[in-house]
Amino acid sequence: MLYVEILGNLPEMARDEVKAMLELAGGRTAGQDYLFLKIEAGGEAFPYLNRLGLAHEYGELIVEADSVDELLEKARGVEWPIKGTFKVDTETMANCRHNVLDLPRKLGAVIHAQGFRVNLSRPDTLVRVYCGEKVYAGIRLRYFDPKDFEGRKAHHRPFFRPISLHPRVSRALVNLTKAKRELLDPMMGAGGILMEAGFLGLKVYGVDIRPEMVEGAEMNLRHYGVRDYELKLGDATRLEELFDKKFEAVATDPPYGTSATLAGRRRDELYRKVLESIYGVLEPGGRLAIAFPADFDGKAEAERAGFELVGRYYQRVHKSLERYFYVFEK
Ligand SMILES: C[S@@+](CC[C@H](N)C(=O)[O-])C[C@H]1O[C@@H](n2cnc3c(N)ncnc32)[C@H](O)[C@@H]1O
Repeated sequence: MLYVEILGNLPEMARDEVKAMLELAGGRTAGQDYLFLKIEAGGEAFPYLNRLGLAHEYGELIVEADSVDELLEKARGVEWPIKGTFKVDTETMANCRHNVLDLPRKLGAVIHAQGFRVNLSRPDTLVRVYCGEKVYAGIRLRYFDPKDFEGRKAHHRPFFRPISLHPRVSRALVNLTKAKRELLDPMMGAGGILMEAGFLGLKVYGVDIRPEMVEGAEMNLRHYGVRDYELKLGDATRLEELFDKKFEAVATDPPYGTSATLAGRRRDELYRKVLESIYGVLEPGGRLAIAFPADFDGKAEAERAGFELVGRYYQRVHKSLERYFYVFEK
């Protein structure tokens, strides 16, 4: 059994991102306790879990219990797969119902009694305790370092536009499409979504209506080492004229506002046409992940274009921008 700790700012989107990856890997979620997901999957799921954007870490779940005493009792009965030295770390989640103050020391003693040495400053193995409705102990296998994503935030890129999604969110959008081979962003801007897809080894296709964006996105992709791309100057409402192929997956973040990014179009009309155009170039069964401001009924409009809603996630960006991320299937 594995576990994933998801991030708390878009929890439902984070949970569904994990589910999408497990669908590709042939595993499933076996339970949830606040931000802690229990996963039924073997090592073959690691490459897919490694793709996650909205996760804090994943690991091997070793014991699960209804009380601290039961956890310690069970911990005595298992052989801990510790490599080198270890340390016990506790995550007290907002719904924690147990007193876990003393647990790191007590669990540490149990594991120490099996012959493993503690190293608090540089442990080789991190034993993670999670307190929620229940208590869990596991071994961290992968930590998603925020620095890896922060370094790709818009202002660090050679071509900078303040319109980009956070790289973790871009990554999650890509994953929610369940793309395995390729991804199209028909309104790519500075290429933030394409960068995340490119890192996953997907072939990326991008379109923007402004020449400086096409140049800028290419600069960014090259800077971060993404090489397998095809970028075009063009209109997202006429994708069938731009490509003579269909796509496995599409993810995009259309312009929201009043600014020049709408290229002179009326916003809602642009969104409707873009939805129809994307529908036209998606493979049957292919998925679209897309963001719309909250005052646009993305579900109704996408259904009108022929899509089926798979998921919808609310985010308040600031006082004057609330949006939904949608996942649709053709
Ligand atoms: C919000 S930005 C995308 C930001 C992008 N996700 C990123 O991370 O950098 C939207 C982009 O859509 C482009 N755009 C606007 N109308 C378009 C159209 N009809 N066809 C293609 N691109 C369009 C704008 O030029 C702008 O670069």
